[in-house]
Amino acid sequence: MGNNMTIKVAINGYGTIGKRVADAVDAQTDMEIVGVTKTRPAFGCDLAVRKNFPIYCTYDDAGKIAAFAEAGYDCHGGLSDLLAVADIVVDCSPGKVGAANKEKYEAAGVKWIFQGGEKHAMTGNSYTSSANHFENLNCNGTRVVSCNTTGLSRTLVPLYSHCGQLKVECTMIRRAADPGDSNKGPINAIKPVLHVPSHHGPDVMTVKPEIEINSMAVAVPTTLMHCHSIVATLPEGHGLTTESVIEMWRESPRVIVMNGAQTGISTTAEVMEFARDIGRKWGDLHEIFVWEDGVKLDGNTLYYFQAIHQESDVIPENVDAIRALMGTESDWKTSVAKTDAAISLYNNL
Ligand SMILES: NC(=O)c1ccc[n+]([C@@H]2O[C@H](COP(=O)([O-])OP(=O)(O)OC[C@H]3O[C@@H](n4cnc5c(N)ncnc54)[C@H](OP(=O)(O)O)[C@@H]3O)[C@@H](O)[C@H]2O)c1
Repeated sequence: MGNNMTIKVAINGYGTIGKRVADAVDAQTDMEIVGVTKTRPAFGCDLAVRKNFPIYCTYDDAGKIAAFAEAGYDCHGGLSDLLAVADIVVDCSPGKVGAANKEKYEAAGVKWIFQGGEKHAMTGNSYTSSANHFENLNCNGTRVVSCNTTGLSRTLVPLYSHCGQLKVECTMIRRAADPGDSNKGPINAIKPVLHVPSHHGPDVMTVKPEIEINSMAVAVPTTLMHCHSIVATLPEGHGLTTESVIEMWRESPRVIVMNGAQTGISTTAEVMEFARDIGRKWGDLHEIFVWEDGVKLDGNTLYYFQAIHQESDVIPENVDAIRALMGTESDWKTSVAKTDAAISLYNNL
């Protein structure tokens, strides 16, 4: 760790997730960005320059590094040079290139965090703030689970903590692409994920193995958010009512509960407009959005919908995961409060 006890954080992959994690880290008082990588001097470099984040090349290749200077960017070296000045690297590369990157991190002796595009089998460890912060303390590396799995964890872990047992079936209605992504679809179809169960539900068990959960998924032509339709079976004697479940989520970190009929926020379009109206950077919503009037507890069966802003719900989790791995904060709620208070300075939380 750095001399002044500020955690030195590298971002490998400065794209949709990487640029957001960089800003969230930069807002914290106990950590700093020592550099971000780009594969080439293109889209995204100017943002790093504006933020004063040192730019490094994703590769150690001298020709690729030189290309940055030729395009007018001050490039501080290759990935190895960046790892040499970092305590921890947050890998925000596209999914499935992680195994090769992990070897580089381990060789450089830095801690590492991957994203949900990588498999649990590759990292051997996974993370969400509410589920297993303590279990991740001082580990060498982890994986912040996907946006969908993070969203499930936010509402199911408090429910599990109350009930001590939980069986869940859910359907992920997934956005087809991120708003800035011009390469993915469908644009005029509903595409079931023909792998049943989908990975999202079972992935919750990588952070909270006690929750029995299965999921199916369909991709639909929207870019704004994912929407989850969830049915949870609670054990006998759970002692909850629809109202007390709603109250539990109101008190849970990073969950927003609103009444669709009363507020007019009844679709993902209005949820995103709400995020823009309250001045969130990039129009992001780090919280999971639960419709109050979509929650119903009928005997032991709980039904609810929630919306997930795929580009941003995992951002604060990455900050908490840094503290867990570095061993600087053992209590997840304290870390969450610290992370969110710092982010609120730019995000109107
Ligand atoms: N977007 C989401 O909704 C979302 C939500 C949760 C989790 N995730 C996960 O987060 C990760 C990143 O996704 P993303 O949406 O941020 O992807 P993205 O927007 O495509 O950004 C990925 C970045 O990685 C860089 N890159 C390419 N090859 C690399 C390599 N070998 N090593 C390091 N960096 C490399 C690219 O750099 P250049 O631009 O310089 O070419 C690009 O900027 C994935 O695991 C994804 O599954 C994504």
